[in-house]
Formats: sequence, C-alpha cells, structure tokens
Amino acid sequence: MTRDLVDPFGRVIRDLRISVTDRCNFRCTYCMDEEMTWLPRSEVLTFEEIERLARLLVDRYGLESVRLTGGEPTVRANLDRLVGSLAALSTEAGPIDVAMTTNGATLRLVGQRLFDAGLRRVNISLDTLDRDRFEAMTRRDELTRVLDGIAAAVEIGFDPVKINTVVQRGVNDDELVDLAAFGRDHGVEVRFIEWMPLDASGGWDSAAVVGQDEIVARIDEVFPLEPVPARGAAPADRWRYRDGRGSVGVIPSVTKPFCGDCDRVRLTADGQFRTCLFSTDESDLRAAMRRGETDDELAARIERAVGAKWAGHRINQVDFVRPRRSMSQIGG
Ligand code: GTP
Ligand code: 5AD
Ligand code: SF4
Repeated sequence: MTRDLVDPFGRVIRDLRISVTDRCNFRCTYCMDEEMTWLPRSEVLTFEEIERLARLLVDRYGLESVRLTGGEPTVRANLDRLVGSLAALSTEAGPIDVAMTTNGATLRLVGQRLFDAGLRRVNISLDTLDRDRFEAMTRRDELTRVLDGIAAAVEIGFDPVKINTVVQRGVNDDELVDLAAFGRDHGVEVRFIEWMPLDASGGWDSAAVVGQDEIVARIDEVFPLEPVPARGAAPADRWRYRDGRGSVGVIPSVTKPFCGDCDRVRLTADGQFRTCLFSTDESDLRAAMRRGETDDELAARIERAVGAKWAGHRINQVDFVRPRRSMSQIGG
C-alpha cells in the first residue's frame, strides 16, 4: 500500500528528478562558468544509493515518474544500468515513466543502449541553429553533433522527443520562428524556456528574459496557434499549430510561475534532497544513508522536507534569494 506524499499546500508529489552527475561536456553560458569545479567522485551517489532512494519513493509514496538530469547525464559511465533498474520499478498503475534531459551530443552513440534499457522519453537542449552562435552559447563547436543526436533520438523511437530552448533577449530571440519551424519539420515539440536566475556567474538579468506572451505572439504571427488546455503539473504551457503540424510549448517560470501545480522533488548528484529548484535548504540523504539509516529513517527525512516545501519561488519579489548552487549542480 502506498500513501501520498503531500506538501503543506496540498500538492501531491508524483515526480522525482535525479541529477546523476554535475559534470557536463558543454559550458552553456546561461548555466555554467567556463571553469567549473566538479564534485569529488566519493561525494557522488552510487547507482545503488540512487536506486535505493528511487525505490523508496516509488514503493512508499507511489511516485510515477523519474527524470534523469545532470550536468549532462550521459557523461556518467554505464548510465544504461541505472536506467534498467529504474525502469523495473512499478506502482499499482504499472511501470514508472523514465525520462532524461540531455544536451543531445552523445545520443547517436548511447541513445540505443538507453532505449533498450527502458528509457522512453528524451528532452534535448537546442538554443540556436547557427553554428557560431551555438559555439558562443555552449562554448563548444558541437551543433552538428547535437542535430545528429536529435535525429538519432527520433530514429531510435523515443516518444516524445522534445527540444528545450532557453531564450535570452539579444542572444537568440531572433531565432524563435526558425526554431519553431525546426520543430514542425522534424516532428518534435520545441519548448521555449524563460531564462531563470540559476546561471553560475550570476549574470541573469530580468531585461534579458523574453516572456511567454511575447514568445507566443511572435510565433503565432507566422504559424497561427491555438492553446492546448489542461497543463497539469508539467512546467510547459502548450499550443497547437492550427495547420495540424504539431505543437509548441513555453516554460514561463519567470512571467507566469507554475509553482501552484508543482508535483516535483529533486535529488542532486551528491545526494541532497530538494523540494524546489530554487530551494535554499537541502536534506542530506547521502550522509543519512552512509551513516546506515534505515528506510524508515530516510522516509522520515523525506516527509519532513516535503512538509516544509514552500509555496513557490520568489523570482519576481524583492526578497528573492538565489540558491547557493547553480543549475548544473541542482539538475534543472
Ligand atoms: P516533461 O514535462 O516531462 O517533458 O519535462 P520537464 O519539462 O519537466 O523537464 P526538463 O528537464 O526538460 O525541463 C525543462 C525546463 O523546465 C528546464 O529549464 C527546467 O529547469 C524547468 N523546470 C523543470 N521543473 C521545474 C520546476 O519545478 N520549476 C521551474 N521553475 N522550472 C522547472
Ligand atoms: N534557465 C532556464 N533553463 C535553463 N537550463 C539550464 N540553465 C537554465 C537557466 N538558467 C535548461 C537547459 C536544459 C534544462 C535542464 O534546463 O537548457 O534544457
Ligand atoms: Fe551542460 Fe545543460 Fe548546463 Fe548546457 S545547460 S552546460 S548542456 S548542464
């Protein structure tokens, strides 16, 4: 028998985001600095530790989905082993949904193995279709490889394949329509993401955020849109192209926060349990496990943390405090 993990605002936790590594083969400017200090390996959870926590959350509280994040999750060796054991977890409703968010550069190489292990959905970052701009934004000349990774994901049969595009004014906002066209042409859903204050350098500026209303208006001018109702707990609002050629999403964290519907908790690569992307405190499950705590003791820590989950981030408020860690260290 499972029982719901409910926060003080009545939101039921259904989704776990697991960062499997803080490392990445890219250095996107809106996320990382050029030079990053990685966690020592001994501080990163082992697959056995990750599996134990995931199992506990699924078995006790009926979590239905797990998403692997990073850094870049595919730089972790033998990731297919972890996918295999997570995909074997199930609730009364059936096997859990196992997804991954990736920069796509390695998908041609490792995608099939991950699919065979049970991974079914991938979200791939793509912020520009211009090679020089890609290199400027990611500090890597890898556009060709990412485009090939997206093609590989579609060929392998991941469904859906979604594209994540972080939009920054004056950086890539002139490509909204081109990227939307890319999604239409390749049968993938592009989601435009409002840039959040989680970059490592602290360079975030509200003036560089392009809001949902503007994004939708600019695409609608060229490819007419109609809203898809019922967003559920997912971060993206969605629109359908009126000509039937698929859909597009916007993740409006800054201008239209969706915290009220949040069903997520997070585990960082070093085993810290977070109830919000923007949490300023964490619960140290790694230390608890390595001290030899029982599942009941770990569950009590999890319930305590969820019992203190806040209503939502306060990006637009004067009292907003940036989390100590940046995006790649939290897992997105
Ligand atoms: P699906 O809806 O399952 O496809 O995945 P997702 O959109 O939740 O995951 P993904 O990792 O692709 O994240 C897309 C963007 O949404 C990233 O910029 C995430 O940081 C952001 N995001 C995910 N969860 C949250 C959240 O709880 N709050 C906020 N503000 N942003 C989030
Ligand atoms: N704001 C919004 N999205 C971000 N991502 C990385 N950094 C930021 C940020 N500061 C996105 C990546 C990836 C996902 C995990 O988060 O592009 O798609
Ligand atoms: Fe790596 Fe993703 Fe951060 Fe880019 S956004 S540096 S791909 S973790």
